[in-house]
Amino acid sequence: MDRKEFLSQVGIGVAALLAPACIGGLSGCKKNTTATKVDFTINTSTGTLAKNGGFLVSNSVIVARTNAGAFIAVAAACTHQGTTVNYNSTNDVFVCPNHNAIFSENGSVMQGPATINLTKYNTTLTGTSLRVFS
Ligand code: FES
Repeated sequence: MDRKEFLSQVGIGVAALLAPACIGGLSGCKKNTTATKVDFTINTSTGTLAKNGGFLVSNSVIVARTNAGAFIAVAAACTHQGTTVNYNSTNDVFVCPNHNAIFSENGSVMQGPATINLTKYNTTLTGTSLRVFS
């Protein structure tokens, strides 16, 4: 094998390795967060959801209790590169700590670099039991 043949084969090998990276959603690729069905229940009488402004992540969903006491839920993975977002109770928004994308209470993009909204989920409170579902 001469140098030209070697470089040719290495080039194909590198390309084959890089192609699946984007399919898998690594750096630079947008995440599809609309995939799976969501349906779970959380006890809101204890933990971070017991107080207004608290939040937690469960089942790939971020559930927050707004300053007004409403429960809201959106997909936790930022649509830019998949970092788990946080809830900022001061402004009632979801903020990605990676590149500072901001999403509204209903998951709409307010500031990039994300361009795709977070999937919003339904919430129903029965006593202290909060059902989160799609
Ligand atoms: S991962 Fe880049 S803004 Fe969230």
